[in-house]
Amino acid sequence: MTTIKISHDVLKDDILVLGLASTNSKGGLVIESGDLALDTKAILAALKDVGATGSTDEVIKIPGSAARLMVFTGLGKKSNSYGHEVLRRAAGAASRALVGSSSATFALPCSNIENLGAVSEGAALGAYVFNQFRSASKAEHKAALKTITIYSASATKTDAKSVITRAQIIADYTFLVRDLINTPPSHLTPDSFTKKFGAVVKSAGGIKAGLKITIWDEKQLKSAGFGGIVGVGQGSANPPRLLHISYTPKGVAKKRFAFVGKGITFDSGGLALKPALGMEVMKYDMSGAAAVCAATLAIAALKLPVAIETWAPLAENMPSDTATRPSDIVTIFGGKTVEVLNPDAEGRLVLADAMMKAQSSKNKLDGMIDVATLTGAQITALGTRTSAVMGNNEDLQSSFLDASKRCGEAFWPMPLPEELRASLDSPVADLANIGDKYGGMLVAGLFLKEFVSPDLPWLHLDIAGPAYNEAKPHGYTPIGGTGIALRSLVTLVESL
Ligand code: BES
Ligand code: MN
Ligand code: ZN
Repeated sequence: MTTIKISHDVLKDDILVLGLASTNSKGGLVIESGDLALDTKAILAALKDVGATGSTDEVIKIPGSAARLMVFTGLGKKSNSYGHEVLRRAAGAASRALVGSSSATFALPCSNIENLGAVSEGAALGAYVFNQFRSASKAEHKAALKTITIYSASATKTDAKSVITRAQIIADYTFLVRDLINTPPSHLTPDSFTKKFGAVVKSAGGIKAGLKITIWDEKQLKSAGFGGIVGVGQGSANPPRLLHISYTPKGVAKKRFAFVGKGITFDSGGLALKPALGMEVMKYDMSGAAAVCAATLAIAALKLPVAIETWAPLAENMPSDTATRPSDIVTIFGGKTVEVLNPDAEGRLVLADAMMKAQSSKNKLDGMIDVATLTGAQITALGTRTSAVMGNNEDLQSSFLDASKRCGEAFWPMPLPEELRASLDSPVADLANIGDKYGGMLVAGLFLKEFVSPDLPWLHLDIAGPAYNEAKPHGYTPIGGTGIALRSLVTLVESL
């Protein structure tokens, strides 16, 4: 756990993080130390000597004068007002480089309250490691930076304090999402996922904080008619679950939103078994469920005046003699039938059940957002760092895109073209679970749209690429689970 503080006292830490920017193409450098006054002449000479350039994702450590160690994190080109995401990434890159240290003070340019939030968020989000499953090799793997002090002249202002509190909440719940994603299916099953959130809801204050949790087991799912979740989960020795977390704010709720997250704790492809190469990352197929559940807890911790109903359909997609066969027909909650032509298109089946259930509640919803690592086609279309947003309501979509931009998560709008819908027709059931092989991300979105009341504003977020970082760490993004979508959801709800 990383703790964030804000201070404007004399430096107490041995480690000082500062910004470094380039002023021209000839190697000119400038130190950006925010509210901290520094005599920079000698330091700049030393930085030149070690070849610093100030480019983004460059972190350079030199023995300090103002502190024992000075850490320079690249801000790119010098600016009078750095973008919040530049600051978030620079702070995060520095935190990552400080793995093994216990505390550091960050003096970075944050001219306004948004940027102060970005620096604290980035610094905290970068201070993450996942060493839970190491024993003998544990000593070789250092712990993350524990205490982060943000050096700022606005330290005593109340809005600065609330920005720090928010960053702490965002970081804590993002770490929960990352931990769950990184936990392998040997240690994370549908059942243990629900138990984990049972414990988290309890420590967040439970009913006193407006939080309630309900769990359906495999027997209850069967008798209540959740054919999608049961069908996907029936091939596994670890039976499926449906998890519901509701957050009811104190006073009158301004709005009521449903979140639905895909929770496949392992996607082997079922009888449409995936190739061995790459299958191991399918432990992250529950990223959507982890993100919506943790976002709900973050929204509760921030005491936002919006009611949230969160649904996480959880199953393990495995091949076995009890697994769903290609051509099997399942009945989704509410009665629609689906011919399962490909058991590897399982996410839409469990989501359909949960989305139908979300809309069956007596409380009228103002919107519904589902989050899922739904298609490989998402990665083909947008790569590993940009997620897709689809939906049926332009207002909600543009509010969402505004929010995602403000919190530094990359989302891009994608269409749901009517002409692709017919490819989901089945000769024997209401729908087939696969359609046209081209535009697979859109076809999946169109499938989900069949389970949304046309007058309910709805967004579908496909985070297949950005949910998991298989490449090198960068900025505040570690290797493995990233926690994507949590910040956008929280920021959207703040804006409602
Ligand atoms: N979980 C996968 C999607 C996925 C693939 C996420 C790669 C992250 C990385 C999903 O269940 C799946 O298997 N989708 C199929 C759908 C197809 C059978 C229509 C896919 O994308 O290949
Ligand atoms: Mn699949
Ligand atoms: Zn899947």
